[in-house]
Amino acid sequence: MLNYNSFIPYARQSIDSTDIEEVTKALTGHFITRGPYVKAFENAIAEYCGAKFAVSFNSGTSALVAACHVGKLSQNDRFLTTPNSFVASTGAAFLKGTIPTFLDIVRCSGNIDLHQLEANINLPLSRGRNVVLPVHFAGIPVDMEAVDQMICNPDTFVIEDAAHALGASYPTGQKVGSCAWSNLTVLSFHPAKNLTTGEGGMVLTNDEELYQDLCCFRNNGIQKTEEMTVTQGPWYYEVQEITGNYHMTELQAALGFSQLKRLDAFVAKRQALVSLYRELLENIPHLSLFSRKHDAYSAYHLLVVQIDFAAYRTTRAQVMQLLEAEGIGSQVHYIPIYRHPVFKNNIAEISDYFPEMEIYYNQALSLPLFVDLTPEQVQKVCACLKKILAVS
Ligand SMILES: Cc1ncc(COP(=O)(O)O)c(C=O)c1O
Repeated sequence: MLNYNSFIPYARQSIDSTDIEEVTKALTGHFITRGPYVKAFENAIAEYCGAKFAVSFNSGTSALVAACHVGKLSQNDRFLTTPNSFVASTGAAFLKGTIPTFLDIVRCSGNIDLHQLEANINLPLSRGRNVVLPVHFAGIPVDMEAVDQMICNPDTFVIEDAAHALGASYPTGQKVGSCAWSNLTVLSFHPAKNLTTGEGGMVLTNDEELYQDLCCFRNNGIQKTEEMTVTQGPWYYEVQEITGNYHMTELQAALGFSQLKRLDAFVAKRQALVSLYRELLENIPHLSLFSRKHDAYSAYHLLVVQIDFAAYRTTRAQVMQLLEAEGIGSQVHYIPIYRHPVFKNNIAEISDYFPEMEIYYNQALSLPLFVDLTPEQVQKVCACLKKILAVS
């Protein structure tokens, strides 16, 4: 059993007394679900990101499923996405019958290769549309303005997976989540993320129709209009399609509402820790971090190092085990989605070959990065890693 009091995990939430007070208020209030905290949290996130509408969900995954549903994804669409993500970003589209077309990544950020996207985004289709789902990996925003400029067909549908990127900005200054160049943006509030609600997610949009559809999807497909109340009675509603119940509770929303007040401070703290990692790990042979050019806009969600383990005559599994023996957690983000058995027989023709993703996958290792990580702990992590790799 790991001793969680001394172990340094790769990620963890930061909860303080103000969070506990806010959750307690929700717990002792009149509503513990579908009440004022949910609305307040949605409004606060929409305002922070600069989007018109926000709809909360009980996980980032269900928020992605909702986004793909209201975006009317179908088997006729060409779904262009990155393999460097958690399975949910492709899985949500797959549930709609859409076969993914994975594109390669660039290793300086772990994000989708925009040259490959440009080569594919306007390819004609006999029936469906092109749908693009970029993931802002590790909190580094994909240049969505550049993506927007590539698109020739206005039917092209764009969903941003910003599960890692709440708090990041685009180079032009807009916040990730503003949907300035997309139809929908999806957030996750899992405890490893930059802001947590325990489990939770949100979809942002500037489109009122999509907003109404998201609310309906979250609530068992229930539609209730003023006209129905007047003509039928106050109890009356209609269900046009079966969806499910994906509501966030008041307790989760209160936690998120409280955390949002510290989000900018969280990002600044992460940024300082990443700078320290850069200082301590620079000039180590066969080891690299993502390019500094992204540092000005990132949400600093993950600290990924790319190590040529073979050059050190070791393996990633061995390095992870030795780190764990020193009380340090690490992770791999991500197993390329196309490698999961469920997708092996289901990926579109174009997805045969991903040289950059494969090299990246062989070398990637996420080291601890979270708000309450101390500089001393970063020093310990780097010293242990150097000891394990036998570099001074
Ligand atoms: C890129 C990405 N997309 C989607 C999700 C799904 O979010 P959740 O865990 O809240 O369902 C995650 C969570 O790990 C993620 O990292």
